Amino acid sequence: MTLRLSQRVQRVSLSPNAAAKARANDLRGEGRDVLDLTTGEPDFDTPAHIKAAAWAAIQAGDTKYTATPGVRALRAAVVAKLERENQLRYTLPEVVIANGAKQVIFNAFAATLDEGDEVIVPVPCWPTFPDAVRFNGGVPRLLECSLEQGCKLLPQQLEAAIGPRTRWLILNSPGNPSGALYSDAELSALAEVLRRYPHVWVLLDELYEHIRFDGAPPRSVLNLAPDLQARALLVGGVSKTYAMTGWRIGFGAGPHALAQAMTVVQSQAASGASSVSQAAALAAFEGGLGFLPAQVAAYRERRDLLVEALSEVPGLEVLVPQGGFFVFVRCAGLLGRYRPDGLRIDTDADLAAWLLEQGVAAIAGSAYGLSPWLRFSIATATGTVAQAGPRIAAACALLRDGDADEGRP
Ligand SMILES: Cc1ncc(COP(=O)(O)O)c(C=O)c1O
Repeated sequence: MTLRLSQRVQRVSLSPNAAAKARANDLRGEGRDVLDLTTGEPDFDTPAHIKAAAWAAIQAGDTKYTATPGVRALRAAVVAKLERENQLRYTLPEVVIANGAKQVIFNAFAATLDEGDEVIVPVPCWPTFPDAVRFNGGVPRLLECSLEQGCKLLPQQLEAAIGPRTRWLILNSPGNPSGALYSDAELSALAEVLRRYPHVWVLLDELYEHIRFDGAPPRSVLNLAPDLQARALLVGGVSKTYAMTGWRIGFGAGPHALAQAMTVVQSQAASGASSVSQAAALAAFEGGLGFLPAQVAAYRERRDLLVEALSEVPGLEVLVPQGGFFVFVRCAGLLGRYRPDGLRIDTDADLAAWLLEQGVAAIAGSAYGLSPWLRFSIATATGTVAQAGPRIAAACALLRDGDADEGRP
C-alpha cells in the first residue's frame, strides 16, 4: 500500500540537528572519539527547586488536563516576569502557554497565514521559522544577512522586502545560529521601517534573552518602540534560560485576538501543555535567576576558547557571538580544497563531513539558510570545547590546495 503524503508535509523536512546528532552518535557507537558540537540545548541540569516543584505537583494530584492557554498562575507569572525582567506590560488574556516556544510559533502562523502570505525571515535562521511558515501555507522571504553585516537584518533590506502580502517579520535576538544581538540603534532603525507598514506584524523570538555576554539585561524592540506591541508576538520560554528543553513549555505574549486564535489552534492540536511541566515552569519564573550568572560565565569561557582557536585557522572567519550558545563560522576559504583521500570539499556540508571524520561534529550552515558556514554549539562541557578547537584546526590543516593539472592534491 503506498502512503500518499500531504502537499503540506512535503514542504518541510526533519530537523537537521537531529540528523547530525544521530550521525555523531552512530560513530561514537562504533567506538570513535567524536566531540559533539551539534547540541542545541544547555548541558546544565534543570535547577533543583524546579524539579522539586514538579514532584510536588505530581504528589498533589496536579495531573489532569489544564485550560488550553495554560494554568492561570503560570500565565500570571509570565505577566509578572515580563514586567520585572523586560519592563513590558501585558495582561493575562494576552499570554498563552504552549508545548515549547516552537509550538507558540507554529500556532501563530497556523492562526494567521493564508496560502501565499509572506513572512520575512532573516537568514541565517533557526530552520523551524521557514518550515513553520511553509507548513501553514505561507511563503518565507529569506533575506540573506552576511558576515559583513554581522548576520543582522538591515533596515533597507527589510523595507525592500515588504510587499502587500507580507504578514510577519521574524526577529530572533540573540540569534540561533549566529549569536548576533541587535543593538538599540539597530532595533530602532528596524522599528522605524515597520512603522511605515502597519499591515506587518513582528514575531520576536527572545528565547536566548538571558544568555548574552555583555552583562546587560534582556532588551527587546518593544522597549524602544512600545507602539509596535499592538502588532507583536513576543515568544519566550524556559527551555534555554532554565535548562528545561525536555519539559516543553514556552509562552507567547501578544494582542488578545491573536492569543485567542492561537488558543483555538492549540485546542485542536494538543490541548493545554503538561500540567506537571507548567508547575515546574511556574517555579522557574518565581524562583529567581540566581543560578544563571555562573552558566553565562561558562558559555562565555567556552565561546572565548573556541573563537580564539578558530580565529587562527586559515580559511575560517568567525562571527564572534554576542549571545546564545553557538559559534557561527564562515568557511568559504576552505572550499575547493582536497582531503588527504582526494575528495574535494565543495560545500559546507562536505566540510562538516570531513570534520566529523576527524572527530568533531558540527552542523553545516546550509541547514540555517546560509552557506558556506558551520555552526558549533558551546552548550557542552568546557573540556569538550577546549579539545575541539585544536582538533578542528588540525583537520583544516590537512586540507590541500588542488593541483592545477590534475585537479587533485
Ligand atoms: C531561536 C529558537 N527559538 C525557539 C526554539 C525552541 O524552543 P522550545 O524548546 O521552547 O520549543 C529554539 C530551539 O533550539 C531556538 O533556537
